[in-house]
Amino acid sequence: MRLAPPPSAHSLRLVIVVILVMGASPSPAMSSGCPDRCVCDDQRVVQCAGQHLTRFPADLPLTTRQLIISNNRIAELPPLALNYLSDLVYLDCSNNSLTELSESTFGNLRQLAYLDLSFNTLTRVEDRTFGPLASLVMLRLTDNPGLADIHPDAFSENAALQVLDVSRNNLTALNVSSLVALPALRSMGLSGNPWSCACDNEDLCLWVHVEGFKFQEEGQTVCGAPADLRGRRVAEVGPGLRARCHQALGSWDYLFFILIGFVIFAAGTVSAWGMGVVMVLYERYVKRKDAQGDPEGGGRGEAEGEGGERVEMGRTGRTSSEGRGHPGNGDRKASHGV
Ligand SMILES: *[C@@H]1O[C@H](CO)[C@@H](O)[C@H](O)[C@H]1NC(C)=O
Ligand SMILES: *[C@@H]1O[C@H](CO)[C@@H](O)[C@H](O)[C@H]1NC(C)=O
Ligand SMILES: *[C@@H]1O[C@H](CO)[C@@H](O)[C@H](O)[C@H]1NC(C)=O
Repeated sequence: MRLAPPPSAHSLRLVIVVILVMGASPSPAMSSGCPDRCVCDDQRVVQCAGQHLTRFPADLPLTTRQLIISNNRIAELPPLALNYLSDLVYLDCSNNSLTELSESTFGNLRQLAYLDLSFNTLTRVEDRTFGPLASLVMLRLTDNPGLADIHPDAFSENAALQVLDVSRNNLTALNVSSLVALPALRSMGLSGNPWSCACDNEDLCLWVHVEGFKFQEEGQTVCGAPADLRGRRVAEVGPGLRARCHQALGSWDYLFFILIGFVIFAAGTVSAWGMGVVMVLYERYVKRKDAQGDPEGGGRGEAEGEGGERVEMGRTGRTSSEGRGHPGNGDRKASHGV
């Protein structure tokens, strides 16, 4: 019923047919009609859901704000055609056969606020794919059963992102370093993935533990590995994982400290031994010198003796002078007596 084109669309289609017949294939920049099997309304909504499309619809109105191409078998989003739609705010590509997105797929969609890529066959999300989507508020990326790899910086430039759903994919780990930094993010869907509850995914487990309220279906966000934690809630294992991973790190630290301790101990022992040897050798040297110095010690005694002699000489000098004085005195006495 939705397929029944309104008369205006019908006449537009006639115009396009005429143009085609005339051999002038319309460039995307000139198209203003509505694509085959789609319904276009005056709210600038183009609805092409469930039309067995295998290709992205051609000749979309350039002013399209909402494009719904869900429930088809479209295998590719052609960057050229898509990026003419610079007014696009809402894009629903869910339930198609998309296997790949490139850096240029969304290169010009700066107004895009809603993007749905759920129920496709994507296997990975690269670094720059969503980079240009500066206005993106909600991204649904669920139910891609082979999706196992999301680049750590895949969402780092989507500063407006509020809702990110990557539920029911094949993800085992997600580097959350850029996600936790997104200022507006308030809702995350992670359930139905075979999450690794090992140290490689420790940060995600802790994040779910700490900010559990942010996560949709947190109860179904469970570990897929290792075997002993399978089925346990990711949030529940977060703190234990932190302790376990840092203890593992700690044992290396301990080993390091033991090694350092041993080196310091060995260096201390060796230097103490060296000091001991030097002390003993010095003492021996001094003793030997003393032992050898007994004859030489006489010489030293002589030197002392010389000093003593000098003193004695001084004394004798004095005594002699006294002696001389005495006779003088005696002389004076004698003279006095005379
Ligand atoms: C996907 O689209 C097909 C039609 O192409 C439909 O039969 C099917 O129910 C849709 N699946 C979901 C999950 O919407
Ligand atoms: C999911 O990933 C595992 C390896 O981690 C792989 O063996 C499995 O086939 C993948 N599942 C799908 C549906 O691609
Ligand atoms: C996460 O990604 C950032 C940026 O790419 C990187 O610096 C960091 O080491 C990664 N963390 C882990 C645990 O792999």
